[in-house]
Formats: sequence, structure tokens, C-alpha cells
Amino acid sequence: MRFSTQEERAAVTERKAFLPYHVPSIGEDEIKEVADTLRSGWITTGEKTHRFESEFARYTGAGYAVALNSCTAAMHLALVAAGVGEGDEIITTPYTFAATAAVAIWLKAKPVFVDIDGRSFNINCDLIEAAITKKTRAIMPVHIGGHPCDMDSIMKISSQHNLTVIEDAAHALASEYKGKMIGSIGDMTAFSFYATKNITTGEGGMLTTDNEEFASRVRKLSLHGLSKDAWKRYGASGSWYYEIEEPGFKDNLSDIMASLGIHQLKRLDEFQAIRQKYAGIYNREFSGLDAVGIPHVDGDVTHNWHLYIIQLKLERLLIDRAEFIEALRQMNIGASVHFIPLHMHPYYARTFGYKPDDFPNAKYVYERAVSLPLYPAMTEDDVADVVKSVKYIADKYAR
Ligand SMILES: Cc1ncc(COP(=O)(O)O)c(C=O)c1O
Repeated sequence: MRFSTQEERAAVTERKAFLPYHVPSIGEDEIKEVADTLRSGWITTGEKTHRFESEFARYTGAGYAVALNSCTAAMHLALVAAGVGEGDEIITTPYTFAATAAVAIWLKAKPVFVDIDGRSFNINCDLIEAAITKKTRAIMPVHIGGHPCDMDSIMKISSQHNLTVIEDAAHALASEYKGKMIGSIGDMTAFSFYATKNITTGEGGMLTTDNEEFASRVRKLSLHGLSKDAWKRYGASGSWYYEIEEPGFKDNLSDIMASLGIHQLKRLDEFQAIRQKYAGIYNREFSGLDAVGIPHVDGDVTHNWHLYIIQLKLERLLIDRAEFIEALRQMNIGASVHFIPLHMHPYYARTFGYKPDDFPNAKYVYERAVSLPLYPAMTEDDVADVVKSVKYIADKYAR
């Protein structure tokens, strides 16, 4: 289906090049640090990874930070450290990425879904207690798009029911809840440094916790379950001797990736200032549109604007969400969707018997969601082009 002609596109934005949904901001400092690591003779987990960990712990206000090769690994190891295993249940929402629930399934535990709040797209805390059974071991709240969950309610429910809180903070680095950084609240918090995240190491993740036992267990599990400091065994201060204390995994982060992380973290506040500014422009420009709902932000949080998810008011449009995204693409603007709810995917429908309407808010929000480009590598002209294109399409296809 054609939504715009060459002439229309030229009249609206004059943009020649496609604006990708995301482009990472990798600077010369990152490149030099990676080159330094490559020349150093030590490229796997080492001093740079440990430096990244301590700077990350300081940034988030967490007692401990353990660098891992993904957020998925961080959530998986957190569940193992929390003792989650066969027949246990964990509570999360269907409005998330594949990883949040898959890590429980790997351990033969069952992800139990609770619907989302229609405004924040985060877990609806009023529905959590009804989902708790004798088998429930953990709650895995997901801070969608970087908007923090209602952590007071989650921590209260978890302490009343003796559950472990493992936050999926893949989106939420630099977000704050009531003045506390995400990463310093739940029992364990998992971050992602995937290519599209607020800071990136290409692939990578971090687990933060204030609990020394969780930190050292996750660290050990991330490197084959080997005894302490086994990562040093090829260095001058290391020893060839190690013991396997349990069958672990291979989830450690390398110094090559940590080299990126160290400099990305230094630039995080600068990145955040740009994200705040661009989100402010979108909010201002879109707030008057009939067919577009802007993201809701609770009064007691700092949103890190990892994602900028608009909600299309489909009843006011002649086109659906897929067509809206295609129309944007024809205006040379990339967009994405976060998320196709897990219960609507074939595996979950088949395995757990879910129907699309089992979680009505997740389904409703999904059908209307469009994530617009928002990242520090965009220029203000790019932001203006997104604004013009969204307004043009919303107007052209207004019902
Ligand atoms: C909500 C959420 N959780 C977890 C992940 C997994 O992160 P990673 O790719 O670092 O394993 C993602 C990745 O995009 C995500 O969006």
C-alpha cells in the first residue's frame, strides 16, 4: 500500500536519507579504549570489566555490580541465585520481551502473567496478590521503556509473601523511583547494554544487588561455577589452580566490551540530557493531536526515555498501527513496536493455553503502540522531521 508520494514526502520534511529507529553513539574514547584493550594482551574479563562494575555500582547506588554478557544472563543467574527451580512460579507481565519469561522456563519454572496498568504499561500491582500461590518464588517487574514500576507496592507485597524481587531493568538505566536509582531497590536488578539501549557494549548486561551472597553466587555461576578469582588464572597475580564448586554457565563480559561500557557510562548523563530534551519536544508537539496519545509519566519518577511509545487512537484514524508505521517508513522515518505481548505468541498460547483477551490491557496497548526514534545520535532536525511526519500522517488519515 502506498501512503505517500515522492512529492508529498519532499513537501513535509525534505529528508533524503532514512532515519533509522536507532543508531548507537560510539565516540572516539570508546574506540581508543577498545584498541588499547586489543593491544594490551588481556581481552577477556579482567581489570577493565572490574572497573566498569565498580563505576556502574557507584552510578546506580548498588552495593555490588556483576558484569555479564546480557541482561538475559543477568535475569537467568538471578533466578538461579534466588533458588528458583522446577515447579516454582515467577510473576511478571506479558508486556515484555522474550527474555523475561524464557529465563524462568529454562529453569522449569512457570511464568505467571499479570496484566499491565494501561497508563504506565508496567505491571498492575493491584493484580499481583491474586496471582500469588504457594509456588510463587519471585516477582520480575519490567520497567517498560524506562518508566519505573510502582516499587513501593512491589517491595511491600514481596516482603509480605517472602518473595525475591528481580527487576528487569533492561530499559531503565538512569531511571529513578522516588529519588532512588533503579538498580538500588529490588533484591537484584538486571540491566542490558544491547545495541539499542541507553548505553551499549554491543551485547552485554549487569546485575546489581546489595546482597553480597547473591553477587558472589552470580559471579561464580557466570564463569563455570569456578572458585573465586578463577578469572585471574592466566595473569601474574593468578594461580593455575581452581575448583568447580557447582556446574555454572558462561556468561561473563569481556574487557573488549567493558572498554565500551566504561566510556558509555561516563557519557550517560550527557546522553540523558539529550533524551530528556527530545522527549520534551515530542510531548509538546504531540500533546494537542487528536489521534495520538503521549506517554504517561508518574509524578514521583524520573523517566530515562529509553523508549518513546505513542498510543494511536485507532477510532480516530482510517489506518491501523501497521499502516501508520508503513506510512512513517515512506516518509523515511523508522519506527518499532514494544511489545507483542508474550501471551499472544504461538509458544505461550500453545503451552499455557492463553487467549489474546486474557490480558486485555496488554493487548489494547500493543495494538496501538508505536515506538518513535529517540536517541542522542539524532539531531534536532531529525526530531523535527519525526514530528512533522507523525502530524502529517495523523492529519491525512484522520477519521
Ligand atoms: C524488557 C527487556 N528485557 C530483557 C531484554 C534482554 O536484554 P539482552 O539482550 O541484554 O539480554 C530486553 C532486550 O531488548 C528487553 O527489552
